Amino acid sequence: MLPMFVADGIDEPAPIASMPGVVQHTRESLRAAAADAVSAGVGGLMLFGVPRAEDKDAAGSAGVNPDGILNVALRDLAKDLGDATVLMADTCLDEFTDHGHCGVLDERGRVDNDATLKRYVELAVAQADSGAHVVGPSGMMDGQVGAIRDGLDAAGHRDVVILAYAAKFASAFYGPFREAVSSSLSGDRHTYQQEPGNAREALREVQLDLDEGADIVMVKPALGYLDIVSAAAATSTVPVAAYQVSGEYAMICAAAANGWIDERAAALESLTSIRRAGADIVLTYWAAGAANWLS
Ligand code: PBG
Repeated sequence: MLPMFVADGIDEPAPIASMPGVVQHTRESLRAAAADAVSAGVGGLMLFGVPRAEDKDAAGSAGVNPDGILNVALRDLAKDLGDATVLMADTCLDEFTDHGHCGVLDERGRVDNDATLKRYVELAVAQADSGAHVVGPSGMMDGQVGAIRDGLDAAGHRDVVILAYAAKFASAFYGPFREAVSSSLSGDRHTYQQEPGNAREALREVQLDLDEGADIVMVKPALGYLDIVSAAAATSTVPVAAYQVSGEYAMICAAAANGWIDERAAALESLTSIRRAGADIVLTYWAAGAANWLS
């Protein structure tokens, strides 16, 4: 599955310096790149929206707004591609909030879990209305899967799938992604993402999401967390996904650019390892490249 970024208010695709070959797309360039990726054989597209800085606010309204960049781009791709691919959307607030957190904040500046759930339901419904087949809540709020399932069902979107970021660790390997979405974050996400040393908690989080109705459970990052992928695959009753994140991609690209490593061989080896650990689905910035290499 290929993660893709679409930005509002740009005329040309904008390269992401720390992720060679990855860009913030315009609506038009996204449509072309998505069609290319689908014809190369990727299994699906995961879309992230990047609003204009002046459209960010404390509540992340640009994510819910039907005319916000992510929802508009979903409608473009749903129209172009129909059921030729699996269209997925990042269901999170961090791209849209002026403070950069994945949730709304309380009066003391802390992420307010339950107030955030209401926003996530609005986001998910807006994305499903715009044509997303799959919503991907990535904010690690407690109860997010159950709340979104109830909200989607009530809105008539009973067939929309929930890809739950079930075990998402507070990782240093998301660094380049924050450039990719022009993040406004100044602090960190340790109050809602997981402690990297705690494997049992990760498995508890996977089980909670299964109990709440997740259709796919995801572990993230991938390479440093293959033990969690493997343990989740051993017990999960639904498909397990793993996200090879921006920092994993950037490391191999940087070493390859120095001539220290062979990009194609290292990328395919890391993808094979993730698959070997038990992932049924892999999100990777090499998705289109790998599809071409493997064809
Ligand atoms: C949050 C989100 C993040 C990523 C995907 N969804 C960033 C974060 O938690 O800070 C990271 C993906 C990557 O690093 O490739 N909406």
